[in-house]
Amino acid sequence: MTPEHTVLGIETSCDETAAAVVRRRADGGVEVLSSVVASQVAEHAPFGGVVPEIAARAHVETIEAIVERALGEAGVSYGGLTGVAATAGPGLVGGVMVGLSFGKAVALARDLPLVAVNHLEGHAVSARLGAERIDYPFLLLLVSGGHCQLLHVAGVGEARRIGSTIDDAAGEAFDKIAKTLGLPYPGGPALEALAEGGDATRFTLPRMLLGRKDCDFSFSGLKTAAARLAEGLTTEAERRDLAAAVQKAIAGQLAEKSDRAMKAQVQAHPKGARRFVVAGGVAANRAVRARLQAVAEMNGFSFSAPPLAYCTDNAAMIALAGAERLAAGLSDTLDAVARPRWPLDEAAAAASPTHLPGRKGAKA
Ligand code: KG4
Ligand code: ZN
Repeated sequence: MTPEHTVLGIETSCDETAAAVVRRRADGGVEVLSSVVASQVAEHAPFGGVVPEIAARAHVETIEAIVERALGEAGVSYGGLTGVAATAGPGLVGGVMVGLSFGKAVALARDLPLVAVNHLEGHAVSARLGAERIDYPFLLLLVSGGHCQLLHVAGVGEARRIGSTIDDAAGEAFDKIAKTLGLPYPGGPALEALAEGGDATRFTLPRMLLGRKDCDFSFSGLKTAAARLAEGLTTEAERRDLAAAVQKAIAGQLAEKSDRAMKAQVQAHPKGARRFVVAGGVAANRAVRARLQAVAEMNGFSFSAPPLAYCTDNAAMIALAGAERLAAGLSDTLDAVARPRWPLDEAAAAASPTHLPGRKGAKA
């Protein structure tokens, strides 16, 4: 058994300044002692997307207070910590540098081990922040504003990519289509609310990458078709129906590719574990969750998703990823650098330079 870890997590890779304290018990159980997320949505909203300069400045202004609040709410002092975990990428590098530097300063001043966490690894472990215990290995669908990938996760730091988007991420598609429907940023939750009660069959949208046997995703054709339809809408009911059709199309594609990945896994390893996990901001969408759960059940896979608060960016997932690494005997030096791009599966990225997983930029 590994010792207990109480880790301060820091997340500043996009437009949320977040800090959290998570305890990983010796038996592997997880307790979130605090999780504070300060959203910058109001600052970016007038621009319809995240402005990197504004984000970095806002992180600088709030990080110290957010960390103090997380420690206060957890009832843990700096002396009670056993490690510090900060997102080191992928993301908007100015913001990443703010959080990583803050983490390094705490590690240096308090003589604590530092973990420079890959943001995607944070999402990968986020389903474990709920009551459930999820063992490795598992099939992971990571769907956020910057990423859309299917991965086989065998253990801490061991992810192999099975498929990824060839154009936009799923959250990006939600955001861009929401914009054409006149919805405010961030568009995903707004589009979900508009789609409520809508008739998803009134509009026909293209099904993407039909006939392809891989597990890659594409949303650009859907985006173009939806934008064209949005131009001709006159009534609120039509907007609602288009939102419902878009949500159904995105959920459908995510379900179809996940289904394919599950079937391929069962074929390759008939006796292997069948666990399916979805994570990232888009996992907060109820229609998406329901479709994925149905597909998992059909294939005999267990289905896990993070509690809603831990789908979108937060620092509890970063703290837990750090604690998992510390428990596995891994940590980083104070030389760790901020990385704008950092694929979870580095081998696949090197072999396939046209695919750029791990890229996360302005979501406008
Ligand atoms: O994981 P996340 O907070 O940030 C990234 O790492 O990218 O994901 C944010 C994305 C945004 O594109 C947002 O529109 C989308 O997740 N999102 C949703 C919902 N909640 C957040 N998309 C659809 N339905 C939702 N309820
Ligand atoms: Zn994220």
